[in-house]
Amino acid sequence: MTVRRGVPDGAEERVAELYWEAFGRKLGAALNPPATGRHFIATHLHRDRAVVALAGDQVVGVAGFQLDGHGLTGGGVTDVFNTYGLFRGIPRLAVLALLERTPAPGQLVMDGIAVDADFRGNGIGSLLLRETFRVAVDHLCDEVRLDVIDVNPRARALYERHGFTAVRTEQTPYLRRLMGFGAVTTMHRSIAPPVGEVAPPAGERP
Ligand SMILES: CC(C)(COP(=O)(O)OP(=O)(O)OC[C@H]1O[C@@H](n2cnc3c(N)ncnc32)[C@H](O)[C@@H]1OP(=O)(O)O)[C@@H](O)C(=O)NCCC(=O)NCCS
Repeated sequence: MTVRRGVPDGAEERVAELYWEAFGRKLGAALNPPATGRHFIATHLHRDRAVVALAGDQVVGVAGFQLDGHGLTGGGVTDVFNTYGLFRGIPRLAVLALLERTPAPGQLVMDGIAVDADFRGNGIGSLLLRETFRVAVDHLCDEVRLDVIDVNPRARALYERHGFTAVRTEQTPYLRRLMGFGAVTTMHRSIAPPVGEVAPPAGERP
């Protein structure tokens, strides 16, 4: 198992498949039907906004993040209209806007972490989180932020084990029918060294 930064050239469809398998309910509200949605994600990926886990040359896990105005998943207004048409595109843009997250200064925002169902429970998610923290260090971020939905307590437990703490929960009853969850909790994890400690050189950071 290796972890690397960036989606390998040619693995876009595979990453889109992993994302869709993990977040299809949420993404489907904006990008269905599934084949079109997966293709849309694959076509508009920002390959440098992810860390991936590889078993051999097969991508088995991915963690996307936002930095400097780009996240792993891309595609703008024109792309949505080109793919879905004008009248079907407008409501989809509204749904996509609901999913948008803007990093505050000094924050790296995680876009989603997904591990192939056959490989879960083997520490891959943890490896992806640790590499994402290193990306945050390298980009001089002092905090990593993510959102976790109320119907995913195991993912939340994983994040808590990796030092995230919940900072607020937004009730989203209007999304329960559309996307399958009724609340979203925002979690933060500090990257900055504790007061009085000097950050180790980049190569030696956790
Ligand atoms: C969450 C996820 C990325 C964890 O990846 P992983 O490689 O299994 O993670 P690790 O092996 O490092 O850690 C396992 C822990 O992950 C958490 N976990 C969450 N969902 C899990 C699942 N379906 N299977 C196994 N572990 C899961 C648990 O805390 C588990 O520990 P536990 O067995 O003590 O409950 C993975 O389960 C996944 O892709 N889930 C679907 C997508 C998702 O929910 N992403 C998070 C959105 S906020």
